[in-house]
Amino acid sequence: MVSTEPSSLIPPPHPHQSFTVTTPLYYVNAMPHIGSAYTTMAVDAVSRFYRLQGQPVLMITGTDEHGQKIERTAQEEGRSPQEHCDQIVSGFTNLWEKLNIRVDRFIRTTNPRHQAIVEEFFQRVLDAGDIYSGKQQGWYCVSCEEFKEERELTEDHHCLIHTNKAAEWRDEENYFFRLSKYQEKLQDFYANHPDFIQPESRRNEVLAFVERGLQDFSVSRVNVDWGFALPNDPKHTIYVWFDALLGYVTALLEPEDQPTLENALKRWWPLHSHIIGKDILRFHAIYWPAMLMSAGLPIPQRLFGHGFLTKDGHKMGKTLGNTIDPFELLDRYGSDAVRYYFLKEIEFGRDGDFNETRFINIVNADLANDLGNLLNRTLRMTHKYCGGVVPMVTVAAEDPLRVLGSSLGDRVAQAFQSLAIHEACHGVLMLAQAGNKYLDERAPWTKFKQGDRAAVEEILYAVLESVRLAAYWLSPVVPHLSGKIYAQLGFVVDFDAVGTDPMVLDRLAGHGDWGGLPAGQPLAEPQPVFQKLEPLT
Ligand code: MSP
Repeated sequence: MVSTEPSSLIPPPHPHQSFTVTTPLYYVNAMPHIGSAYTTMAVDAVSRFYRLQGQPVLMITGTDEHGQKIERTAQEEGRSPQEHCDQIVSGFTNLWEKLNIRVDRFIRTTNPRHQAIVEEFFQRVLDAGDIYSGKQQGWYCVSCEEFKEERELTEDHHCLIHTNKAAEWRDEENYFFRLSKYQEKLQDFYANHPDFIQPESRRNEVLAFVERGLQDFSVSRVNVDWGFALPNDPKHTIYVWFDALLGYVTALLEPEDQPTLENALKRWWPLHSHIIGKDILRFHAIYWPAMLMSAGLPIPQRLFGHGFLTKDGHKMGKTLGNTIDPFELLDRYGSDAVRYYFLKEIEFGRDGDFNETRFINIVNADLANDLGNLLNRTLRMTHKYCGGVVPMVTVAAEDPLRVLGSSLGDRVAQAFQSLAIHEACHGVLMLAQAGNKYLDERAPWTKFKQGDRAAVEEILYAVLESVRLAAYWLSPVVPHLSGKIYAQLGFVVDFDAVGTDPMVLDRLAGHGDWGGLPAGQPLAEPQPVFQKLEPLT
């Protein structure tokens, strides 16, 4: 697996047909905010989609705990950096639980096993002749943990993202990584792997940046203690980004493994997808592949840079302090509502503004009305007209609702595969809306009065089955709601157990297609599956 031959740079076809996906490893300078939660919700939804397809999934997240930003925050709070990290990390794990995120691997970069991986990797890069000592001068944004070029700063040297933090002038001896050596190799790699960077706009951004010429970057710090010592010069610590990116590798170690690169890479490497925000594109699209090339390792298959959640047009962030507290939002509205709003309302890849009134309106309209009420009124009618069991009928192949429902699986699958999560949600919602229209137009209550029992059964089956399909395909986004809908339809399915309990997938076999509702299945007494959200007065 680990080879220094240039041919190993081309990712081999995935031997294990697995979906391995990462969120960024979050800085622990402050408690998580809704922006950090956004990436994680998206990664969780996509992972759940692949688990529903029966594929092995490894969902990786974690925390990036070294560097000057963390060191300073801990100092300001009068705590040791490790104490500070431990406290904030528990905030992240609590949030993931509240948000109903299923994490397979949680990697902390302060884990001693990670140190072994970073040292071994650094040594490889050193052996490849790609590290040298030199003088670093320039403007450094501690919040980005990155040197900035003049054109990336305001006139008074503030970073464009962290407009309230002045960049700091640095003039120091550091070790450098020969990024410039990889310019052409990177360009070839992008050309041969046109899908590596997504969406297209981000790819273009990276290509243009690389085209302007790559400069070596410093991979050590003399003035920062909170980090791993450089193996070849322990007065220096390893640059936090060099350390953090390797967290994706350390995360792959099995608990019983010795922490070596070979062990970490043997099963899951190369990863399938890194999902990140657009602010950290350069590190993942340029630095990371070059580091891997230097170490002779294959490069992950895809990198997707999503947009920002903004407030009044500014990126929400811990540094600017214009964030929304996800804990509050979740306590008030629950995980399904929060997940649904952010994943459906914001086109994945673009920026999106958050507004609480809009949030409430959208969630109520889609989940409580279009989907929840549709189920509720159809169930009532099924109890009234069909004895509370799934009618024993076959809906005509050309029935418009059946036609739409039958194509939903393909649409949703395509959407998730291309990370158009909003598209998947839209597809499901369209089916629910079509179900409401169908019910209104076909008016089974009139048909019942006319004594046309066959028509009543066909209509009710078509609508119930559409709601089931909608719940099935929306389960990666709103797993609890889908479980409740399924329960009303007479199934016992815990969507959170898909991928861990093989029985659940067995029970769901064929459920992505039309016709999963078995005739004669008893239906539950109608209960609202989604309580309307109330604005705070
Ligand atoms: N520690 C680095 C990542 C290292 S990965 C090896 C880092 N951490 S971060 O906590 O600052 O940001 C993590 C992710 O959260 C980034 O992808 C960033 O884009 C995302 N977001 C932070 N604020 C955000 C918004 N307001 N909106 C959407 N995503 C945002 O960078």
